[in-house]
Order: sequence, then C-alpha cells, then structure tokens
Amino acid sequence: MHTIVLATQKGGSGKSTLAIGLALAAKQAGFTVRLIETDPQGTLSNWQRRRNNDDVVVEPIYHAADLAPRLKMLADSGLQLAIVDTAAGLSAATTAAIRHSDLCLIPARPSVADIEATVSTLSVARAWKRPYSFVLNQTPIRGQRIDNAANTLAEEAALDLTEVLARPMIVMRNDHQDSLASGLAVSEFAPNGKSTEEIRGLWQWVETRLNISATNVLIDQVIPVADDMLLVAAEHTLNETTTLAS
Ligand SMILES: Nc1ncnc2c1ncn2[C@@H]1O[C@H](COP(=O)(O)OP(=O)(O)OP(=O)(O)O)[C@@H](O)[C@H]1O
Ligand SMILES: [Mg+2]
Repeated sequence: MHTIVLATQKGGSGKSTLAIGLALAAKQAGFTVRLIETDPQGTLSNWQRRRNNDDVVVEPIYHAADLAPRLKMLADSGLQLAIVDTAAGLSAATTAAIRHSDLCLIPARPSVADIEATVSTLSVARAWKRPYSFVLNQTPIRGQRIDNAANTLAEEAALDLTEVLARPMIVMRNDHQDSLASGLAVSEFAPNGKSTEEIRGLWQWVETRLNISATNVLIDQVIPVADDMLLVAAEHTLNETTTLAS
C-alpha cells in the first residue's frame, strides 16, 4: 500500500480538495483507495455525506496514536492507496501522518504567505526522511506569479524544481468548488473539463513519483495468490509425507 498525506500549516490551500480529487483520479485509474480524515473540521466526512454513495470510504482517525496501526491493517487487507487529509497547523496527527507516509504533498497557493507556511511541514518531512513535493494550487491560468512562486519553493527546498514541484499546477477553477459542494470529485463533476485534465495529470505525476506502475499493482495482486498456492502446496506435501510415514 502507498500512503499519501496532504499537509501544510496554511488553511485553505487545497489539502481536502486535492485529497478528494486525487482519490477519485486514482480510483478511476483502477486503484483501491481510502480517504483518511485526520482533520476534526470534517471536510471529507461532510463531502461524503453529500455524496450519498459509499463507493469511496472516508475514515476519520483523529488520534495520532491510532494512525499507524490502522494504516498497517489497511495495508494487510490489500488496500492499494491511502490518502490522508490533515488539518491546517501542525498537530500530532499531522506529524504522525507525515511520518508514516510514502509521499507528503504540500499544497500552496502562489502567495508569499502560503509559501512561507510550508516551512514547518517541510521540516517534519525532512526529519522523518519522507519524500515530499509541493503542489501549486489555485494558480492563475498563466503569469509571472506562478514562475516566481515555483522558484521560491525550489529555493526553500534547495532542490531541483523538477523533483520537488508536482506537475501540472492546479489552476483556480470553479469546478473544484462546485464538485466539492455536490459530493463529487472534479473528474465526476466535469469529466471533460480542464480541471479534470489537471487532476488526472497530477495523479499520474504522483504515481510516477511513488514509482508505482500498473505492473507493480499487478505484482501486489499476484503475490498473495502465489502465497496461497505455496501454502496449499506445503499442506499437500505435509499430508503426503504424513500418509507415507503412517
Ligand atoms: N484549484 C482550485 N480552484 C478553485 N477553488 C479551489 C481550488 N482548490 C481549492 N479550492 C477551494 O478553496 C477552498 C479551500 O480549499 P480546501 O478546503 O481544500 O483547503 P484546505 O487546505 O483543506 O483547508 P483547511 O486548512 O481549512 O482544511 C475551498 O472552498 C475549495 O473549494
Ligand atoms: Mg481541509
């Protein structure tokens, strides 16, 4: 299982919106997905209630100590992807989520305040040696502001931009707000829209960053079957040996 966490200290930067968007993009790409809500504000649970469909499970886990054991249970059950949405600020639950993630996505609007607010999240990801990437969200369609923001983020991380900045950037579009309001993801609300194209592109980027391909997913499915077959073969051999011995 792969665990992605969306975290940044700044409120309203798009953690919940991107969590939902990525969850549905991954689901539509064939992954089994669960959304984990660590934010007591309940944006994901509220979205789930409006959705009126339990095809995507939103699981609230508000206590930091509950997170790791639950993620392990989900991994053991064969789930392929857990996406953890966190509250603004830096709570114990957020720190635990980052610690147990395979990738920490840090959304930021292209504003100085949002970019400055990424520092504390960045330091937690680094402290636990977790891979991280920035996602520029709610950007204008084009303009100097985006390039400036991207360069500042790269400077802050002291890393090559291509590695640290997820692509594409997610443009400010009404579809994101309207889909959230109707209990849908953008890829369901506007399947042919630019918003969907961007979110699907972002999922593909994340998938590559996580280094999971369709082949790996297949291997994940094949290994338990192979394990079962080995177990049956071992039992069979044991029975034969016992019969021969008696
Ligand atoms: N790309 C986008 N285009 C337009 N609106 C967006 C976009 N991303 C997020 N929004 C809107 O911005 C607001 C804040 O987004 P969201 O709730 O996802 O942020 P958040 O980081 O989870 O906030 P909080 O810190 O309060 O949990 C919401 O109204 C959401 O619909
Ligand atoms: Mg939120």
